[in-house]
Amino acid sequence: MLELNNPDLLRAEAFINGLWKNSLSGETFPVLNPATAEEIAQVAKCGVQDTKTAIDAAQTAFEDWRGRSAKKRSALLMAWHDEIVRHVDDLARILTAEMGKPLAESRGEILYGASYVKWFAEEAKRIYGDTLPSPVTDKRVVVIKQPIGVVACITPWNFPNAMLARKIAPALAAGNTVVCKPANETPLSALALGQLAIEAGIPAGVINILCGFTVEIGEALTSSSVVRKLSFTGSTDVGKKLMADCSATMKRTSMELGGNAPFIIFDDADIDAAVAGIMAAKFRNAGQTCVCANRIFVQSGVFDKFMAVFEEKVSYLKMGNGQDDGVTIGPLITLGAAKNVRSIISDALETGANLHVGGMDISEQGTSFVAPTILSNVNKDMRVFKEEIFGPVAPVFKFETEDEVIALANDTEYGLAAYFYSRDIGRTWRVSEKLDYGMVAINTGAISNEMAPFGGVKESGQGREGSKYGLDDYLEIKSLTFGGIDK
Ligand code: SIN
Repeated sequence: MLELNNPDLLRAEAFINGLWKNSLSGETFPVLNPATAEEIAQVAKCGVQDTKTAIDAAQTAFEDWRGRSAKKRSALLMAWHDEIVRHVDDLARILTAEMGKPLAESRGEILYGASYVKWFAEEAKRIYGDTLPSPVTDKRVVVIKQPIGVVACITPWNFPNAMLARKIAPALAAGNTVVCKPANETPLSALALGQLAIEAGIPAGVINILCGFTVEIGEALTSSSVVRKLSFTGSTDVGKKLMADCSATMKRTSMELGGNAPFIIFDDADIDAAVAGIMAAKFRNAGQTCVCANRIFVQSGVFDKFMAVFEEKVSYLKMGNGQDDGVTIGPLITLGAAKNVRSIISDALETGANLHVGGMDISEQGTSFVAPTILSNVNKDMRVFKEEIFGPVAPVFKFETEDEVIALANDTEYGLAAYFYSRDIGRTWRVSEKLDYGMVAINTGAISNEMAPFGGVKESGQGREGSKYGLDDYLEIKSLTFGGIDK
């Protein structure tokens, strides 16, 4: 049983029009703790009709919400932020129980999510228009920015709090209302945000959250002509399908999809700093982030030195239940996810990779745990090069020249995040400009924060979350042309 200071935060119903509701069918589904396989809750299993009710609620709430002043919307978002921060410990416990990441990381995620709420509460007051020059003397052209309408937000299990906060906050700041479908693996963190929205005074219907029949809910959202935008974080395959489905009603879309991040260490790098960077970029959330370092490229001159320091640091990681003290690597989200990561390791080992740390401990078979693993002697034909690993596996490639590594780094259909370490100022500019990625990290392993634009190119998606650019994805531009000025 989850012990919370505020037991009201553990909600299992759908959050529709400000009320907690069972699904219309009365069906529920279990939410499991990935570390123990224990059931934490039975959550309302919603379908098409529940989704339509939520869309209607969001549509009705839209007129009032968009009509409020930016300052009032800002104040309500700030109140929501304050509630989230005030309940950080409870929210972290819920998150760790359903998702598995260590408690310290869960706390970090809650504060990370809250930082977007605060940022967009501030940005709500800065939705500026424009005055444009007119081609003729008797006209004036002005641009205003307006909300889009009802926005659907579909979010993944790897950051069940922050990904939702990062979508709801800009949507509301801009004057939109939302219908949210969090991942069925981790609905509780999302529903707790609904409870805190009530406590913050956000009006009924502005935020709606429901889980259940994923495909049916997705289709109800994408086919609705009331829903004018879809913001999705998840896999590239699902993103493509959702985008195609949105085309029938010509919805706006934001797609934050998969990655295959290169992490490059040049001969002139500070090796200790690079190892600190890779530890964060590879092992955060047990390797289950779309910006995780997926392919590590080390220049031949520092290869041995890097490997020695890296192996030592990885050997200090402690795998276990995220609720336990000192644990730094939790389980993967499901048995299936762990099985897939093990098969990626097997593929590499069977085709010539060397194992340095980790691998497949027999005691982990049949559990969601995969030990932090380092592989070398890997090549382009292996699954570790081509696929998004989404687990704590670090494949290390040796390279010789800058041109060679840029070609290798760009040799993927993905383009989300890339990292490199170098102290050479010319190289930092050259390489940054040549990497085909939406986000490039130079001499750091941490890129995510509310003030920087988050998003990818190529098949990693489109649109940007956070930063001064993040609101544009939730606004329509309207031009007003005033004629008859000379009369
Ligand atoms: C993600 O994995 O989708 C998001 C990671 C982040 O915000 O840093």
